[in-house]
Amino acid sequence: MKLKKLSWIAAALALVVPFKAASAETATLVGSDTCIACHSEQAASFNSSTHGKKMPIVKGITADKSCESCHGAGSLHAAAAGDKTNPGFATIKNPSKLKGSAASATCFACHNQKDVMLWDTGTHAAKGLTCNTCHSVHNGQGAKSLKKSEGETCYQCHKNKKAEMSLPSHHPIEEGKMTCNGCHNPHGGTSGNLKAETVNETCYKCHSDKAGPFAHEHDPVTENCGTCHKPHGSANQNLLKQAQPYLCLRCHKNEHTVRQNSGVSDLRKRNCTDCHTYIHGSDMSGAFGH
Ligand code: HEC
Ligand code: HEC
Ligand code: HEC
Ligand code: HEC
Ligand code: HEC
Ligand code: HEC
Ligand code: HEC
Ligand code: HEC
Ligand code: HEC
Ligand code: HEC
Repeated sequence: MKLKKLSWIAAALALVVPFKAASAETATLVGSDTCIACHSEQAASFNSSTHGKKMPIVKGITADKSCESCHGAGSLHAAAAGDKTNPGFATIKNPSKLKGSAASATCFACHNQKDVMLWDTGTHAAKGLTCNTCHSVHNGQGAKSLKKSEGETCYQCHKNKKAEMSLPSHHPIEEGKMTCNGCHNPHGGTSGNLKAETVNETCYKCHSDKAGPFAHEHDPVTENCGTCHKPHGSANQNLLKQAQPYLCLRCHKNEHTVRQNSGVSDLRKRNCTDCHTYIHGSDMSGAFGH
């Protein structure tokens, strides 16, 4: 039985690689029709996927060349005819079984988008996630070929963020107005998988009115928005880390106690921003007043 199969492979190899009969390990391209004969299900899912529709247009990879552009040359696998004990069988590449950089290399062959190429710098790569953790070529949803909806993709592992995002003050993710990726790049990036170099640059993408420069800057604002705000959610209004006046008294311990400069005695019990309206900086004179 074994002998029969071996000679079958030998015959197949002789056909496919006539000049390399000695190096039996080198698989060659056989074309998609060969694959489809045994994998009609995957061929159907592929044809209806983003890749199936776009690869011919964007990369000029015609249907006949598609399967092996990701799975590698398949002659030995095909010749094994489904016999898993045949060494040739395992020469086909299944990206979902590869680990680390070998897994992402399959995808990098075509995906050199700037944000995706940050992959190796990110926490997700360091923690052993692969492209296939979130994406599926054959069974992905939507244009981004994700296994789950964009929201659910992140909550699978970051459950505590779902709770934070439900606090009274939160960025409108539950409302569907933005996604985690408004601030994060799941593929990597500088510290915190953020979309920009720093926390502040990330916030300025949507809150450009806070970017300045202002004639009167407030030091903690230019340093890090996260000094006063929680990015995901907070029990305090305006995503504040603490309620006023405590938020401010953390740094301004002596104001309006040593100098009752405005003549009002209960200043420290009030919202400091009742008077210091332009807390993020102002071009007008006066201590962030108006
Ligand atoms: C003669 C039939 C046959 C041909 C031809 C064939 N395969 Fe397979 N292939 C199989 C069988 C059987 C399996 C095992 C399926 C299973 O375990 O459910 C398999 C498994 C696979 C796997 C998964 C391997 C793994 O380790 O998980 C991939 C990927 C694959 N084939 C791709 C291809 C591609 C690409 C081609 C064309 C180059 C191809 N196959 C041609 C029969 C074939
Ligand atoms: C753009 C890359 C890519 C192309 C092109 C591609 N595949 Fe796949 N294939 C994958 C990935 C990634 C997996 C792992 C499962 C997943 O992500 O859907 C996979 C899994 C498979 C499997 C293993 C069984 C399974 O469903 O997990 C088979 C068989 C397979 N592909 C066959 C094919 C065939 C046949 C073609 C051509 C019609 C093809 N693939 C084209 C990337 C690709
Ligand atoms: C042979 C080339 C090729 C390989 C290899 C490849 N892709 Fe793609 N991929 C494409 C093309 C072409 C598109 C369509 C891009 C477009 O519309 O501009 C695409 C689209 C995508 C998209 C949707 C992008 C968008 O802009 O909507 C995702 C996500 C994706 N691929 C993930 C993967 C993953 C994960 C892998 C590895 C398992 C992979 N790709 C391997 C060629 C490839
Ligand atoms: C933690 C989950 C996750 C992992 C891991 C992941 N992605 Fe993505 N990917 C996403 C999400 C979510 C989007 C949609 C982002 C958006 O719309 O801004 C996306 C979008 C994309 C896109 C389309 C647009 C773009 O340029 O950003 C490509 C291409 C892509 N991913 C490729 C990859 C590749 C290649 C890998 C592996 C190196 C990978 N992804 C790993 C979640 C992931
Ligand atoms: C398969 C699990 C998994 C999925 C899915 C996942 N992550 Fe992660 N993520 C991790 C792990 C593990 C870490 C490391 C820190 C930790 O343990 O929380 C991490 C860390 C992070 C960090 C912190 C990075 C740093 O350097 O401090 C951010 C931001 C992040 N993920 C965002 C996302 C977003 C956005 C999504 C959805 C697109 C997502 N993650 C999906 C597992 C996952
Ligand atoms: C408004 C911008 C913004 C949005 C939206 C956002 N994040 Fe973040 N996230 C940040 C900032 C800023 C940090 C802190 C980064 C630092 O200090 O380096 C952070 C940190 C993280 C961390 C690591 C530290 C921690 O708090 O655990 C994880 C994990 C994370 N975010 C996941 C998510 C997930 C999942 C979503 C979507 C549900 C999401 N983020 C939505 C801005 C955002
Ligand atoms: C992708 C766009 C986007 C980014 C990036 C972004 N935000 Fe927002 N932010 C929003 C939206 C949308 C709202 C809700 C505005 C509304 O409802 O009128 C909001 C609201 C807020 C609010 C008010 C919340 C409330 O309860 O009323 C604060 C504070 C805030 N953002 C701070 C930040 C900080 C700090 C960062 C950086 C870590 C940041 N934002 C990054 C889009 C963004
Ligand atoms: C010193 C503390 C502090 C820092 C640092 C800070 N904020 Fe605020 N922020 C506040 C306070 C207090 C409020 C509420 C204002 C009020 O009650 O009138 C607020 C409100 C907001 C609001 C909602 C109301 C509005 O004005 O649009 C946004 C958006 C916001 N901050 C964004 C940012 C961004 C972006 C940064 C970083 C560039 C930042 N904040 C840094 C204290 C701060
Ligand atoms: C993380 C520390 C920190 C926090 C929190 C903080 N500040 Fe400041 N603030 C500073 C620093 C530093 C300066 C500049 C040095 C100085 O004048 O003391 C400053 C300056 C000021 C000034 C004086 C500006 C001038 O022109 O003299 C006012 C007014 C002010 N802050 C109000 C507030 C209010 C109101 C809050 C709460 C919403 C707040 N600060 C929260 C650190 C902080
Ligand atoms: C009723 C209005 C009012 C309230 C409430 C108020 N302030 Fe003031 N604050 C003022 C005025 C007026 C000045 C003097 C402005 C000037 O010098 O132009 C001032 C000055 C300051 C200064 C600058 C001191 C200096 O050396 O010039 C700081 C810091 C400050 N306030 C912090 C706070 C903090 C923190 C709170 C909340 C605990 C607060 N203020 C509440 C009106 C107020």
